[in-house]
Amino acid sequence: MSSVIASTAIRGRFLDIQNTVAQAREIHDQVRYFEDGLLITQAGKIQWFGPWSEGQHHLPDQVDVQHYPDQLIVPGFIDTHIHYPQTEMMGAYGEQLLEWLDTYTFPTEIQFEDPAYAEQIAQFFVNELLKNGTTTALVFCTVHPQSVDALFKAAEQHQMRLIAGKVMMDRHAPEALCDTAESGYNDSKALIEKWHGKGRNLYAITPRFAPTSTPEQLARAGELKAEYPDVYVHTHLSENKNEIAWVKSLFPEQNGYLDVYHHYGLTGSRSVFAHCVHLEDAEWDCMHQTNSAIAFCPTSNLFLGSGLFPLKTTWEKQVKVGLGTDIGAGTSFNQLQTINEAYKVQQLQGDKLSAFEALYHATLGGAKALDLEDKLGNFDLGKEADFVVLDLKATALQALRQQRAKNLEDALFALMLMGDDRNIHATYVFGQCAYVKA
Ligand code: GUN
Ligand code: ZN
Repeated sequence: MSSVIASTAIRGRFLDIQNTVAQAREIHDQVRYFEDGLLITQAGKIQWFGPWSEGQHHLPDQVDVQHYPDQLIVPGFIDTHIHYPQTEMMGAYGEQLLEWLDTYTFPTEIQFEDPAYAEQIAQFFVNELLKNGTTTALVFCTVHPQSVDALFKAAEQHQMRLIAGKVMMDRHAPEALCDTAESGYNDSKALIEKWHGKGRNLYAITPRFAPTSTPEQLARAGELKAEYPDVYVHTHLSENKNEIAWVKSLFPEQNGYLDVYHHYGLTGSRSVFAHCVHLEDAEWDCMHQTNSAIAFCPTSNLFLGSGLFPLKTTWEKQVKVGLGTDIGAGTSFNQLQTINEAYKVQQLQGDKLSAFEALYHATLGGAKALDLEDKLGNFDLGKEADFVVLDLKATALQALRQQRAKNLEDALFALMLMGDDRNIHATYVFGQCAYVKA
């Protein structure tokens, strides 16, 4: 029997969020927890899920049950915004967005012209995702088509569901990192034809951000989206105040930053805008009306001093949101660490982020932001079997804290605030174990 169609049976404590919700307060009622549960996968998808007492009678013949009695199993984490070529430049000192791009980011990305280099970093990057329990990500590559090939090939080795695209950038960047309106369109189109829907890979049209694309390039990006409506659009929006002022000066005829993207047909249900820290009212309305999504990237927003993202407003305005690490402005690949910082960003604004809401954003909510909630995000039958086995007591300090946990929610909150890659015991992708902690 080939490994692709094999069954896997996992026994342990399972936790997920059963349905998408319209308000944060509804999440509590959607929490599903089996103290002693069983998950059976078949051909990468969830075939059976429920309590062990029932499920043990549904076990296929000759399937070994992998038992995790001490861990907590949750759906795979979803990272809605990350740059794989920036893996090596995390922790670059001292600058805010625009200077950081010029000083550190562009010189790093130039190296991805070399396919061998791109392959090496892509491999490292995918391993790092798995090591952190992240099973799906929406990823920026560089301007070079070969950087996209390298990433999709690395993801294919694990049958990961990854969304990625070539950066489109035809001004305000070094010559070696620029395409043209025409070549950006042609190269992106060729990559869509090559990769979109191949296995679990999906393509994202990826204009870096409004300042690095001419109006002609944004128009060509919009043309491409109209030709391929089911591909994604992935870009940055309203991250930094100097950036916003620059966009307004470059596009005076548009009614603000988001209106630039909207004007060129780049908003919509598969459009994901990273950051959105400083959106104006009309922009929140446009995000809602177009069913566009936000990637909230707390470690990056704090690291670059960009500002405090108002998560509560996403509920008020009914705008989809997921969590992003935004490596390499972000300071951790890990979604527990990302939640830790997301919590503090809300505290600084007088708001609370509960453990279950955080779990929602990292799993089913993230899937919804990526328009993939029919395939990912929880343990519903028929969904793709991506999940992570969490160790709650990876250190003596964590063990001490967990012994005093009042209930599941408290235990989860402590894990989120104190946890990191040491807490990732194993990561399963499409029913197969893709990573086990050494
Ligand atoms: N805006 C345009 N490019 C980038 C990037 O690479 N990282 C971040 N954080 N913001 C951007
Ligand atoms: Zn980014």
